[in-house]
Amino acid sequence: MLASIRVCHATARRNVIASATRYVVPRTRAVLPTAGLACRLNYHRPARNEAFKRLTKDDLGFFKTVVPSETILATAEVGGTADAVELEGFNADWLSKYHGNSQLVLRPKTTEQVSQILKYCNTHNIAVVPQGGNTGLVGGSVPVHDEIVLSLRNMSKIRSYDELSGILVCDAGCVLEELGNYVGERGHIMPLDLGAKGSCHIGGNVATNAGGIRFLRYGTLHGSVLGLEVVLSDGTILDNLSTLRKDNTGYDLKQLFIGSEGTLGVITGVSIATPQRPSAVNVAVLGVPTYECVQRAFKLARKRCGEVLSAYEFWDANCMGAVLKHHELKNPLSSEFPFYVLIETSGSNKEHDDEKLGALLEELMEEGIAEDGALAQDDSQIARMWSMREGIPESLGKTGATYKYDVSIPIPVLYDIVGDIAQRLENASLYKPGDLTRPVKLVCGYGHIGDGNLHLNVVAQQFEDRVTQIFEPYVYEWVASHRGSISAEHGVGLMKRDYLRYSKSPEMIAYMKRIKDLFDPNHILNPHKVV
Ligand code: FAD
Ligand code: MLT
Ligand code: ZN
Repeated sequence: MLASIRVCHATARRNVIASATRYVVPRTRAVLPTAGLACRLNYHRPARNEAFKRLTKDDLGFFKTVVPSETILATAEVGGTADAVELEGFNADWLSKYHGNSQLVLRPKTTEQVSQILKYCNTHNIAVVPQGGNTGLVGGSVPVHDEIVLSLRNMSKIRSYDELSGILVCDAGCVLEELGNYVGERGHIMPLDLGAKGSCHIGGNVATNAGGIRFLRYGTLHGSVLGLEVVLSDGTILDNLSTLRKDNTGYDLKQLFIGSEGTLGVITGVSIATPQRPSAVNVAVLGVPTYECVQRAFKLARKRCGEVLSAYEFWDANCMGAVLKHHELKNPLSSEFPFYVLIETSGSNKEHDDEKLGALLEELMEEGIAEDGALAQDDSQIARMWSMREGIPESLGKTGATYKYDVSIPIPVLYDIVGDIAQRLENASLYKPGDLTRPVKLVCGYGHIGDGNLHLNVVAQQFEDRVTQIFEPYVYEWVASHRGSISAEHGVGLMKRDYLRYSKSPEMIAYMKRIKDLFDPNHILNPHKVV
């Protein structure tokens, strides 16, 4: 049950807090299914680079000498016995938007095996896609054509953990949630958390420089990752698994691999600093009348909660509609609102945090910035409130084919793009709010507002050009005109490769290409992605 926020409300209406709402926690922690609908995108697939070798039985014969046969999935086309259906989960992305045609999946168990595989591929000019949990949202984790899928899922051992410093060293294929449980039992937390935690790998997180819901407090992986073990395209093992917090011995090469999306090397090991687990956590969800109030509430939250504010997320009414429809959750608030905000505080002194958050909520209600609110009373209510926010991507996937734009724009204009895109779609008669029979069913926005990061989502009946052309490249032009980023946290992958120029200058792109040439001269790693 959710208790009323203990505040002096200006009006009786504002005093209504859901008091006896029962929830069923949705399965956000198990392995994620693909978003659901089989909607193939009619995207303009780059042509296959015919310089890449097509796999033969001899190649499979070599790989059988490197990795155990149970770690190989090969179709008859390359001399194996697997059904194409068995490879589908490796060929299709989470959104079911991009579908490759790989005939071979290799799941090595050791760094040495990864090295031997890459050395062979480099010598024979065979293209490879490194794959973690395959939860990426930009088409980076799946083959475009017939690249080998190199899955890290069999590399999931914890190598060491120092309980004093909280420094964890582990294989790249460890699932984020499992790492969270491991360090949690030792009084720590992972510095990042995201809705895909039950499936994504730490190696994938590092490769995408994932952001997520703890970014506001713990910052980027460029700060938390202390060292990496990476296998380069020619099989060289770069062992930089440092556990030092301070190390200024020249260029910090690991930074290049953080966010490189499998294009510069295969991450096989990660050393990462894990913060102390906060002993007091509070979560509140608020109903907010306007986007302007979402911003005002953020400003006040920073002012009043300062050092204990650990997350500030928002979503709009369309997101809430979808999440309540597709998850067994009930709105903890008395009615519907145009916007919802989730505020989390984390600290070491419950009384102190309760007091700070209580005072903030009181002020927000008195000022009319929030019109309703619910404060979680225990851990299970905290989990349910987070499920509401984290369940949005999956519920949109269940609604239809989801186009995702993940942008950084200055906070004051962040939400404008949602209304703008909705209007453009309406003008083209492709969308009418509430009419689920139109080509576009829903336009909505949510995200990590504390980080200036909006997720604009357009949910359609299917992925199709007449819809896409309304907002591509318009969204990217819009973002560039505000000096924003076309990818705040999801990466570039295949989806945004041709739009990189909207966020990077020609000189920067030229240097990115030179770095690619240096680490992967034959471009066998994740072709067609990023640059
Ligand atoms: P994959 O999807 O398998 O791969 C992603 C990219 O990394 C690919 O280019 C792949 O080639 C490369 N890669 C993977 N492993 C390696 C490796 N070991 N070495 C080299 N390259 C590798 N992202 C956020 O930033 N913030 C969020 O809040 C967030 N929430 C999400 C919620 C849901 C429900 C879903 C489905 C996705 C979410 N994502 C989010 C996107 C995604 O989960 C992250 O990008 C995640 O870090 C990807 O990890 P993965 O193991 O699934 O990688
Ligand atoms: C999120 O914040 O929920 C993730 O980045 C996933 C998404 O954008 O859908
Ligand atoms: Zn996000």
